[in-house]
Amino acid sequence: MTPLRVLSVASEVFPLVKTGGLADVTGALPGALEAEGVAVRTLIPGYPAVTGAIEGARPVHHVSDLFGGPARLLEARAAGLDLLVLDAPHLYARPGSPYHEPEGRDWPDNALRFAALAMVAADIGGGAIDGYLPDVVHAHDWQAGLAPAYLHYRGGVRPGEHPGGARPGTVMTVHNLAFPGKLPAGLLARLGLPPSAYAIDGVEFYGTISLLKAGLQFADRITTVSPTYAVEILTVEAGMGFDGLLRARADVLSGILNGIDTNIWNPATDTRIAARYDRATLANRAVNKAALQARMGLAADPDAPLFAVVSRLTWQKGMDLLLACLPALLALGGQLALLGSGDAPIEAGFQAQAAAAPARVGCIIGYDEALAHGMQAGADALLVPSRFEPCGLTQMCALRYGAVPVVARVGGLADTVIDANPAAMAAGVATGVQFAPATAEMLEMALRRTVALYREPAAWRALQANGMASDVSWRGPARSYAALYRDLVGART
Ligand code: ADP
Ligand code: GLC
Repeated sequence: MTPLRVLSVASEVFPLVKTGGLADVTGALPGALEAEGVAVRTLIPGYPAVTGAIEGARPVHHVSDLFGGPARLLEARAAGLDLLVLDAPHLYARPGSPYHEPEGRDWPDNALRFAALAMVAADIGGGAIDGYLPDVVHAHDWQAGLAPAYLHYRGGVRPGEHPGGARPGTVMTVHNLAFPGKLPAGLLARLGLPPSAYAIDGVEFYGTISLLKAGLQFADRITTVSPTYAVEILTVEAGMGFDGLLRARADVLSGILNGIDTNIWNPATDTRIAARYDRATLANRAVNKAALQARMGLAADPDAPLFAVVSRLTWQKGMDLLLACLPALLALGGQLALLGSGDAPIEAGFQAQAAAAPARVGCIIGYDEALAHGMQAGADALLVPSRFEPCGLTQMCALRYGAVPVVARVGGLADTVIDANPAAMAAGVATGVQFAPATAEMLEMALRRTVALYREPAAWRALQANGMASDVSWRGPARSYAALYRDLVGART
């Protein structure tokens, strides 16, 4: 069987450029899809971190003027991925974050930077690269959202090239509806869209243009990253203004749960942790707990329930709720180890708590991939009190590492953790603690339940063992994506 060809279009891909879970997904899914007979090439902007990582790259396409400067497309293989790197120095050769200036302001030309990515995706979908035509163009999040729109408006490009269809099939995956990618309406012509596109059934979004809406409106299929989030976003409460459109397109919307890279996240082989272990050698976790306490400046207390957070510090993640519950956590005899960065008041709040009780609260503001592994390996429990969570990856890492996840029952958190209620405990399937709604009161109750379970060693070990046995790999999800692509291509032939 000839492999199905998929062009994945994204602004981040692990390990080259990452600000969140999006990169983990776009970095790991191609490898898992290979086993399903799907060949993925990933189109990514040529940020310095990307162009610096590709050797022996081969130019396969040139654009003389891509929104104000020349651009080339470089074909390269790096980090196990088949990449198409959009080398456009006037748009991407900038230091730091992919999205904002070193001082924190969004780059003023972000609209054009990501329209350029989508436009070149549409070029590739139209046959711009000799000998390569994707069957499906798969756009991830707002940065790639215009790709389905460009392909829609361009229509047939190379007649006869595409089996039965004038253009490749298009899939839009929503990783987070909270980022609409909004631009001023006046940019429509500059983006190369027809005047008719500025309409409710086009890219118009409450008086602006939304790149995400472009994808949601024009993609043949819409997916999001968990089945529960796929249902939640049909409601006004979670729909972020897109719920009407999503309800209208519910017949092409589905939720496919993320996985994690189980080679990178494997406590039996992880060289970033103090002591390796598996289900049979769980006792080795004590070494990792001691190492984490030392790293965080916490008291070396093997019996204190050690809670960890690895997260963006934002309202979405419910970090203000946790701040409100910290006195209760400490009164329960717990310790907190936090790694993250985000909103300044939340960062300051945790820093103040750490300064007030350094033996019980440790906080590192920043981003540290290696330490994230150490936290999963050393913590007793991982806290994810999100108000909404499209999927969430850290709770899956926690399951794999025997850190018991304590999560709000929303989105992908609801789909990946089995609450330790009496029925689940009796059936021997519980893997963590869930609470709802996401309020400080309910979080505090969840902390109490968690510490009570922790004080019952047999119950706690069962939670850890069940979690470590759950399948958090990409195998199942990759099968679902492959089926979706095949169904889409089949529907178009
Ligand atoms: P989101 O993408 O919404 O931030 P996810 O749970 O999907 O949340 O993915 C977050 C990813 O980023 C995970 O791989 C997590 O381990 C990682 N991560 C988040 N914050 C940090 C941090 N401060 N240091 C290291 N890794 C982090
Ligand atoms: C987004 C979501 C997160 C999800 C990730 C990867 O960042 O906030 O829940 O896990 O994308 O899909």
